[in-house]
Amino acid sequence: MPGLDLAFARSQFPALSGDPDGWVFLDNAGGSQILGSVIDRIRDYLTTSNVQIGASYAVSMLAAERLREGQAKVAELINAARPDEVVFGPSSTVMIQTVARAMAPRLGPGDEVVVSRIDHEANIGPWVGLQAQGVHVKFWDLNRASMTLETSDLEPLLSARTRLVVFTQTTNIFGAILPVAEITALAHERGAEVFVDGVAFAPHRLVDVRGWDVDYYVFSLYKVFGPHHAVLYGKYERLLALANQSHHFVPADRIPGKLQPGNPNYELSYGASAIPDYLVALGARSGASPEGSRREHIAAAFDAIADHEEMLAERVLAFLRSRPDIRIVGPAVSSGEVRVPTLSFVVNGRRSGSVVRAIDPMKIGIRFGDFYSRRLVEDLGLAGSEGVVRASFAHYNTGEEADRLVAALTTALAV
Ligand SMILES: Cc1ncc(COP(=O)(O)O)c(C=O)c1O
Repeated sequence: MPGLDLAFARSQFPALSGDPDGWVFLDNAGGSQILGSVIDRIRDYLTTSNVQIGASYAVSMLAAERLREGQAKVAELINAARPDEVVFGPSSTVMIQTVARAMAPRLGPGDEVVVSRIDHEANIGPWVGLQAQGVHVKFWDLNRASMTLETSDLEPLLSARTRLVVFTQTTNIFGAILPVAEITALAHERGAEVFVDGVAFAPHRLVDVRGWDVDYYVFSLYKVFGPHHAVLYGKYERLLALANQSHHFVPADRIPGKLQPGNPNYELSYGASAIPDYLVALGARSGASPEGSRREHIAAAFDAIADHEEMLAERVLAFLRSRPDIRIVGPAVSSGEVRVPTLSFVVNGRRSGSVVRAIDPMKIGIRFGDFYSRRLVEDLGLAGSEGVVRASFAHYNTGEEADRLVAALTTALAV
């Protein structure tokens, strides 16, 4: 089976078409490059349909149609049952806060919410805030032996009063992938809903909200080759049950409108429609059967992406494993089943900032810190070393770029 058509992939990102000795972008878990086709659609929207939706004149109807296309294509990307299960908003942080606020009226003393401690603070703080109204928040901790969240550690936290289990599908620090369907099945068996942060997963693997049966799922489009904009998925009946976050007269069944106060950004929502189109085209060039559906093409694209990313991760992990002065944080293996190519490490006797600053002049964009997963980094005892050094790949990175990082690290660590 043919692998990823890397030349095609790179050609679709304007930022990657410049000087071959230019910047290597390895901060993709922070934010990916954007597709040229997304930029084109944003420009198209703004030049030909930049009016308010909801009126009866033709341009307004075109604008509304474009917004609907954004929803429908994102629904296809994540396998939602219907387009109105896709809620757009400015960021995952805001979407999570919105859901926590919208759920708050039906939670009170005695109710329990389980929250993982390995998440970005965006998916911890809003849930911890429910304590103010008497909700009991229980923490699901990192398992030190396996360096991931273990379902067996979740079990004893669940009780007849557990209303919600909140967790990340993939840590933004070290890329370990959690078994979302298994965790969801366990939570459902105990009568709890699940809220999943897919921000660090969605750029790398096929999202399948229906297959996994998750209740809510959130991710950021600026990490999935799109603009600064975010998606909240909710099962229709779950969204129906959330409290209105818009004007008092907005009816409970106006979905997703009641969760998009003031309207979402139209041009960015339309721009997002180009992302699945790109993945369909990539799939067609990377092994999808021509007779396959658009969703099958997207799946083929992600299969090819997973293989390519495993190769990239292995090139760097092989180097990291070979260095006695380096401790890999998270899985030391490159298997695409276990991890995405977000790699973190610390260097004995060096602050993480000093390693990254030594790399900066070599035109390789990596970074250090806690990446707002502060509780995890503190639990790992790494706050004092300025967190971790993180290099995070996307599918458009090349093997040569991975080698450039290894060479740069070798030089930086020699001084
Ligand atoms: C895993 C994870 N969750 C949530 C967020 C917050 O996303 P946003 O910047 O869209 O609010 C981030 C951002 O880096 C993240 O990495």
